Order: sequence, then structure tokens, then C-alpha cells
Amino acid sequence: MASDTISFARGAPSLDIVDVGGLRDAATRAFTNDPGGTTAYGTSIGYVPLRRWIAEQHGVDEAQVLVTNGSMQADAFLFATEVEAGQPVVVEKPTYDRTLLNLRSLGADVRMVSLQTDGIDTAELRALLRSGVRPALAHVIPNFQNPAGYTLSLAKRNELLELAAEYGFAIFEDDPYKHIRFSGEDIPTMHSMDEHDSVVYASSFSKTVCPGIRVGYLVGPAALIAKIAKLATNTYISPNMVAQSIVYEFCVSGAIDGSIQTVKTALAERVATLDAALEQHLPEARYTLPEGGYFMWVDLPEGTDVAALFDAASERGVQFVKGTDFLLEGGENTLRIAYSGVTNDRIDEGVKRLADAYRSLAGSAAAA
Ligand SMILES: Cc1ncc(COP(=O)(O)O)c(C=O)c1O
Repeated sequence: MASDTISFARGAPSLDIVDVGGLRDAATRAFTNDPGGTTAYGTSIGYVPLRRWIAEQHGVDEAQVLVTNGSMQADAFLFATEVEAGQPVVVEKPTYDRTLLNLRSLGADVRMVSLQTDGIDTAELRALLRSGVRPALAHVIPNFQNPAGYTLSLAKRNELLELAAEYGFAIFEDDPYKHIRFSGEDIPTMHSMDEHDSVVYASSFSKTVCPGIRVGYLVGPAALIAKIAKLATNTYISPNMVAQSIVYEFCVSGAIDGSIQTVKTALAERVATLDAALEQHLPEARYTLPEGGYFMWVDLPEGTDVAALFDAASERGVQFVKGTDFLLEGGENTLRIAYSGVTNDRIDEGVKRLADAYRSLAGSAAAA
């Protein structure tokens, strides 16, 4: 592999869009303003001032919030509490690979429902429900979906809420990218529109502050949050108070607004560069430009062998994630490009290498 590898693989920000100075200052304030709370074990519900701040942002009672070590931990707690082996769980097709892994290791009966450019195919979901399948929950990534970059329309959000109320399943709204919108109009969360306590909402500071801080959270009905808090106590006593206290200071000082703006500006520029580079070097690529978030899904012509493309790309010093990793079957001609970790000046070169790898695949669609 080339030493100057360009990685479109990781859903993480490049260092230039992380507010390191702001975090250093927030850390100083955390230890100065609340040395006791910052250094103590605390309890499993999380750092109390941050929990309160999150509750205010969502207009809910504090008892409805649990702050965790990244939203991955929130997801794992929720699945462990709400999903039993053999129970059907609806996910999008494609979906976040770690959600798939987590659900499969719990022995869930994973039912993938097609994802369209305006979100999960609600007609397909309705047909599945009508066929008698009764999911424990439906996992939905509503904004700038991982891996596809698509956003769930308002009409489909309403339809999902209706289906959840009618068929009695929970919607797990997994929403770490909401604030990273760089074009188009913001759409309200299903959680904010929910009148039947159908929605459990998760989000994270990984994409708005930095992933290494490992702070995420769940918002849901108080009884469910209390149940999960017990599991959290038994798992780790409490999450990382130092990290949560720093995030709290970062949020209340307003530094988070500047950080979000920096990320949005940079990512909008990267998407435009990526679009131009694909058009120039790999015109066979088909994609929908994301209006926010970290990812873009690319379809290559039928017959493309994405595993072979992955190897050829690796040899040329460019990485991506194969579409097949986000599916239980199919997707051999698809891939996910994460533009979050590649600075704008490296994107064109990365796409050139990818196109070169594509053209090297003898006998593939590239050669046809
Ligand atoms: C849809 C989705 N959910 C959850 C996570 C996990 O985020 P965290 O870093 O908060 O654990 C990610 C991270 O990429 C994600 O894309």
C-alpha cells in the first residue's frame, strides 16, 4: 500500500476541522469550575449539567436523558434492553455496519427494508408489517444516512410515526448527523413529532465536537431510560465524567456553534470537489449529492466487482468501504465514500486513484 494513502473509509473528521484549542480551553474550565463533578465517578445517567443541557435542547424532562460513552454505547444498551434473540428488527438497506453487527450478535432477526433517496421505503415496510412481521423496533438514520448520505423526507417521517402507532413498534431514531446540514432545509426529528412515545432518539457529539471525546446520548420515555440506566450501572458504574464535563463547557460557551459551522463549511466544499472529480475521472459513477453529513454512496455499473476494486484501490493508495459491508446480501457494485476525513486538496487525487483502480479491472464492467 502506498505510504500517502488517501482514506475515504473512515467516518471521522480530519484534524483541521476539530476545534482543538476550544477543547483545551473547555477542559481547563471543566477542571476549574467543577473539579468535584469532573473527577468523581458520578452515576450512570451521565454528567448532570450536560444531561440537563441536552434535555433543554430537546425540550424534555431530564429523566428522559441518559448520557453515554459515544452513541454506540447508547445503541448497544438499547438493543440489549429491547431486543431478544429471534425477534424481528427492521433496519435500512443499506445500514450502518456496526448496527448490523450488533443486532446479529444479539441473534435478532434482521429485516432490511430498502432505502430510497428520500429515506426508508415505507410502502415496503407497510407490506412487511401487513405480512404479519412484528418488529421490536425499527432502526432509522434520518439525516445524511450512514452509509448512503440520504435524508428521510418529512412525509415519510409522518408515515413512520403512523405505522409505529398502528403496529406497536418503537422507532429508534439514530441521528448523529442532524446538525451537519450544509444545504437544504432542516426537517424536524420524529422524536419531536411523536405523540405516542414511539420514538427513542440517539445522538452524539462525535460529529459536532470530535469522536475521541466519546460522548453520545439517548432520549426516550423515562421508564425506558431508568431501565437502561440500571444496565449502565452494572456495566460501567458511570460513563466518562471528564469527557462529559469538557463537552458541557464546550457547549455552554457556544464553542460548539463555531465548531459545527467549521465542519459544515469544510464538508460542503469537499462534496463539491468530490462531485467535480467524479464527473471528470469516473463518469460511470452514479450518486445523489448529500445535503449534509459525512458520506456519499456510489453505484458503479452492474458487474463491477467491488472486492476486486477495493484491492486494486488499496494498491494505488486509496481506501473506501465496500457497499457489501452495509448489507446482508448484494451491493457488489457499490461503495461508500466518506469525505469527512480527507482534506479538500487531496480529494481529486483520491478520486483519480479510484478511477485508475476501476479501469484496471480486466473483464469487469470497466472494460466493457
Ligand atoms: C448512524 C450512526 N450511529 C452511531 C454512530 C456511533 O457514533 P459514536 O461515535 O457516537 O459512538 C455512528 C458513527 O459513525 C453512526 O454513523
